[in-house]
Amino acid sequence: MYNSKIIGLGHYVPDNVVTNDDLSKVMDTNDAWIQERTGIKERRHVVKGDGDTTTTMGVKAAKIAIERAGIDKDDIDFIVFATLSPDYYFPGPGVLVQRDLGIKTVGALDVRNQCSGFVYAISIADQYIKTGMYKNVLVIGSELHSHGLDMTTRGRGVSVIFGDGAGAAVLSREEDNTKGILSTHLHSEGQHAEELSLIAPGMGKRWVTDIIEDNDPQDESYFPYMNGQFVFKNAVVRFSEVIIEGLEKNKLKSTDINLLVPHQANLRISQFIQKKFQLSDDQVFNNIMKYGNTTAASIPIALTEAWEAGKVESGDLVVLAAFGSGFTWGSVIIRW
Ligand code: UT7
Repeated sequence: MYNSKIIGLGHYVPDNVVTNDDLSKVMDTNDAWIQERTGIKERRHVVKGDGDTTTTMGVKAAKIAIERAGIDKDDIDFIVFATLSPDYYFPGPGVLVQRDLGIKTVGALDVRNQCSGFVYAISIADQYIKTGMYKNVLVIGSELHSHGLDMTTRGRGVSVIFGDGAGAAVLSREEDNTKGILSTHLHSEGQHAEELSLIAPGMGKRWVTDIIEDNDPQDESYFPYMNGQFVFKNAVVRFSEVIIEGLEKNKLKSTDINLLVPHQANLRISQFIQKKFQLSDDQVFNNIMKYGNTTAASIPIALTEAWEAGKVESGDLVVLAAFGSGFTWGSVIIRW
């Protein structure tokens, strides 16, 4: 059995900055409310017509990660792409990355685990590398939320939170099993599936034909819905549990953590976790202030920025943790 390690990281966000004040021009919201409840100051939105999609942003992040990994694109053995906002209903973006990067006909897998998507994707890549089946796996998390949000006062509870962007990592074989990804921990609780969801169009409750037939301008079913307080309460519990699970599995304590990179759901959630584990500001990386919640892209964007800022060094214990729609949650324990 091998371990896997992250050998290259990259991220890409669109240039277009949307501030809280910008949002208050199109809906009844304000900078004070958004900052107080979420910590978000601004986010990036793709400008229609500029050509960015979930896939193209993922490709841009991936190119940087591959270059930093010091490998050739033809050394990639497998692609895992996590998103809740794919370019097409099908096929998923994994194959589009294979095409756009001109990678040989390796397997491409799409992960549908929303905010936990990147943690799930890392876990999948890790298993393939552990068994020796693949040596280098490209993992991408990318989201284009902005054009699927209800940008009116009706949708403000959700729309002010989400932003666009992408992050990528190249995972590679590590022969020393005290280094790299030590363990991953995944969970789900489908009982709460609808508490944070986008129901339509789907083949379950609301078909495309239903939407067309009803032709109802008040139809909210194709916008994301979130029971914010319920999600918040579950998030703080599950984040904590899954971090503890990962530490205990490796006989580690919270004092061993050098850097925690939580999914950027809400600055208040990160602060709650920081306090619970008695971590200093230096031990928790947050960038939700700049990007909002980019779901599957949030951890790889944050991890890339932390690495670029020199906050991740060889030998460090780095913990990734996520919670979101599904509900799904998970953690990754890394000896860098
Ligand atoms: O990434 C996946 C995981 N996601 C999360 O973990 C998110 C978890 N939830 C949250 O972060 C928070 O619940 C929110 C930030 C989404 C909302 O904060 P909240 O403190 O739970 O607010 P609320 O939904 O209870 O709304 C409070 C008030 C309401 O008005 P009334 O009924 O008290 O008059 C809302 O209508 O704030 C109002 N409101 C807003 N006001 C200004 C909701 N959205 C806005 C807004 N601007 N954007």
